[in-house]
Amino acid sequence: MCGIVGAVAQRDVAEILVEGLRRLEYRGYDSAGVAVINQGELSRTRRLGKVQELSSALDAAPLAGGTGIAHTRWATHGEPSERNAHPHLSEGDIAVVHNGIIENHNKLREMLKGLGYVFSSDTDTEVICHLVHHELKAAGNLLAAVQATVKQLEGAYGTVVIDRRDSERMVVARSGSPLVIGFGLGENFVASDQLALLPVTRSFAFLEEGDVAEVTRREVNIFDVTGSPVKREIKESEVTHDAGDKGEYRHYMLKEIYEQPTAITHTLEGRIAGGKVLDSAFGENAAEFLKNIKHVQIIACGTSYHAGMAARYWLEDWAGVSCNVEIASEFRYRKSHLFPNSLLVTISQSGETADTLAAMRLAKEMGYKATLTICNSAGSSLVRESDMAYMMKAGAEIGVASTKAFTVQLVGLLMLTTAIGRYNGMSSEMEAAITQSLLSIPAKVEQALGLNEAIIELAEDFADKQHALFLGRGDQYPIAMEGALKLKEISYIHAEAYASGELKHGPLALIDADMPVIVVAPNNELLEKLKSNVEEVRARGGLMYVFADVDAEFESDDTMKVIQVPHCDEFMAPLIYTIPLQLLSYHVALIKGTDVDQPRNLAKSVTVE
Ligand code: M6R
Repeated sequence: MCGIVGAVAQRDVAEILVEGLRRLEYRGYDSAGVAVINQGELSRTRRLGKVQELSSALDAAPLAGGTGIAHTRWATHGEPSERNAHPHLSEGDIAVVHNGIIENHNKLREMLKGLGYVFSSDTDTEVICHLVHHELKAAGNLLAAVQATVKQLEGAYGTVVIDRRDSERMVVARSGSPLVIGFGLGENFVASDQLALLPVTRSFAFLEEGDVAEVTRREVNIFDVTGSPVKREIKESEVTHDAGDKGEYRHYMLKEIYEQPTAITHTLEGRIAGGKVLDSAFGENAAEFLKNIKHVQIIACGTSYHAGMAARYWLEDWAGVSCNVEIASEFRYRKSHLFPNSLLVTISQSGETADTLAAMRLAKEMGYKATLTICNSAGSSLVRESDMAYMMKAGAEIGVASTKAFTVQLVGLLMLTTAIGRYNGMSSEMEAAITQSLLSIPAKVEQALGLNEAIIELAEDFADKQHALFLGRGDQYPIAMEGALKLKEISYIHAEAYASGELKHGPLALIDADMPVIVVAPNNELLEKLKSNVEEVRARGGLMYVFADVDAEFESDDTMKVIQVPHCDEFMAPLIYTIPLQLLSYHVALIKGTDVDQPRNLAKSVTVE
């Protein structure tokens, strides 16, 4: 988390930096700050709260200078406050911004205090700037000082350092937290995401793990983990999204919910032909990898994990391979068994989630046959380090609550099910039925969005609620989990999801008139079982909200409000039932008056573990 922007230019850069921070605010929004060098003097402005606070402060007291760094923070060490906001300074000479966690900061802090350095924040980051200041005395130049510093750091960092006495240079270092260099004309930039720099350049080079780079107006010199000079490929960005544009929508989340038909159309484009999913959807040479797969291990976090949970039903039921799904932070710290011919699948909107990345690296060491990532971010660490990549093409997702990324992940996983199933006995009729269904999803999602008005009304019922229970069965159980996550994440209502068969094993005790129970009920083979579970709730005085297929024969009464969802086939049903749950959480959050796009304590891209 945390957003970083840096620039070396002839013009004043403060405005460029702040605009970059605005575009990175999804990474953290506890506090923000900027430092620039002007005629050998270092000036800094920091504010608690969102980038807008910093921007207003700079409007009132502008900062001039052509070299600068800026940061928007998601607090790890030290509360959100102005004194803990980045950039941090050492002796008024060195300024540093950092994303990540320095695990040995306590030891370094004691050592630096012993050398006479005085700490003015509670952050782990401050050790970096004092250490650079200290190392500079022996190293003689900023690049060598940063190289000497990073050798002493344990943990994760993406960091940018400037020195007021060497005013036309930034030194940047990456280990565990992403950094991209943006190439301009007579000016160069750095950021933790290319999105930040799109107004000033479209040419980018992604730093690799262990890289340290020296960036001036005219030159970028990159050194690898051994200190040897390296070239990193410069690519033209294909990102077209303007992060500043919410269009007609009040929130990014709503915009992204409504973008789903288009996002799904894009992800399908060029990937299905003749009733088959093309192997090339998963990258070059994917067929070579996929044809031998007998087991799939899926690793992800949060919403992406829920997509993986749904895919498990499909891979085992339709593709005929075994499948495990695990939360990345668990997988990476336990000893797991490697099945023969296993494919490791990571799912990640950002491609930078620290736990997912670490789990993927571990799986590689363990000897998985191949790694595939289902990812929305070209050039991200997961894409670069995986053998295969399914690029989601959902367009940038800015709202912290993941919406279109989830449904597009489900589409990618349905495609993967057919691609693997083909080599494991799936009939061509079955594959044709799935691809037929895939192609009709955008239109069906459009229909499901038509439920908006009904859901606005329903949301009123949640205004005074503190808790909610979501129920589903089969591949709708992960959809119930996703519905609960959305509700808790943006409305702060405590919500839990259960496979409805589990009700009588405990959660039934929670049922009373104050506990709304939300049920997803497509017309599938588990419908009758689900109906029995619904009766169990009804018998205990619970109030239910049932999202049901038109043919499922539920009727609204005193104990139940039925919302009819457009009829859909079993392949697309999890996607379609997701839509009303997204809308429900959005409208409940509006009523609760929360910050929908930037809910408290969260960040979009979780690049620390
Ligand atoms: O970028 P990723 O898909 O790897 O992110 C994983 C989770 O942090 C993410 O899905 C999170 O749960 C969402 N904010 C939920 O809406």
